[in-house]
Amino acid sequence: MRRRIIAGNWKMNMTKEEAKLFVAEFLPLVESDCEIVLCVPFTDVHRVWKLTRGSSVKVGAQNVAWADKGAFTGEISAEMLKEVGAEYVIIGHSERRAYFGETDETVNMRLKQALKYGLKPIVCVGETLDQREAGKTEEVLAAQIEKGLDGVSGDVILAYEPIWAIGTGKTATPETADETIRFIRARAEKTLGETSILYGGSMNAANAQSLLDMPQIDGGLIGGASLKPKDFATIVNCR
Ligand code: 13P
Repeated sequence: MRRRIIAGNWKMNMTKEEAKLFVAEFLPLVESDCEIVLCVPFTDVHRVWKLTRGSSVKVGAQNVAWADKGAFTGEISAEMLKEVGAEYVIIGHSERRAYFGETDETVNMRLKQALKYGLKPIVCVGETLDQREAGKTEEVLAAQIEKGLDGVSGDVILAYEPIWAIGTGKTATPETADETIRFIRARAEKTLGETSILYGGSMNAANAQSLLDMPQIDGGLIGGASLKPKDFATIVNCR
C-alpha cells in the first residue's frame, strides 16, 4: 500500500542523553498523521521506544541478522530487535554496502528474515555518481531490485538513495528523483505489488516539500536532518 512515510536514519549518532533530548524536543512539534519512523543505533532502540510510546512515532533499527541465532559475532537478530521495540529495519543502506561488504545476496537474506519476524523492512537501492554519469543507473538499480527482492513478497518499503546525494548536500532534483523512482516502481511492483518508495539523499527542511510533491515519491529517508528535531519536524509536517 502506498502511504506517506518519513523515516529518520540516525546512522552512528546519538548517545543515550542526546536521544532523550531529541525526543523531548521533537514530539511536541509533530502535527502530521503520516507514518514516522526513527531508525536509531541498536543501543538507542529500547530507550527511544520507551520515550515515544503512545505517540505516532515508531522505532526502527539500521540492520538485522539473516539468521535466527547462533555464532554471528556482532550481529543482532530480528527477535532481539522486536523484543526491544523495533518495528522497522533499514536493509542494504549504501554505507553498509560500501564499508561492510553488504551485497544484494545478503540484502535478500536479511530482508527475508525481517519479514519472517514481522519487522517492516526499508530496503535501500541507489547508484554511484560514476554509474549515473556512465548511463548505467537503470542497469544498476534493476540488478539491485532483482537480486535484493528475489523470492520476496509482502509489505516492503523501498528507498531510492543515490549515493552521490548522501551526506553531500547535493540533492537529486525532484524531477530526477521522481523519474528514477518511476523506474524502480515499475520493476519492484512486479514482485511486490503496490509499494511505498521513499527518496533519500540530502533531503532537508528546505527541499523536502518540493520532493514530496512529486507523484512517485511517497516519503523520505533522512540522515543529517533527522538529527535536528526542528528540521525533522518540518519534514514530517510537510503537506
Ligand atoms: P543524508 O540525509 O545525510 O544525505 O543521508 C541520507 C541517508 O543516507 C539516509 O539513509
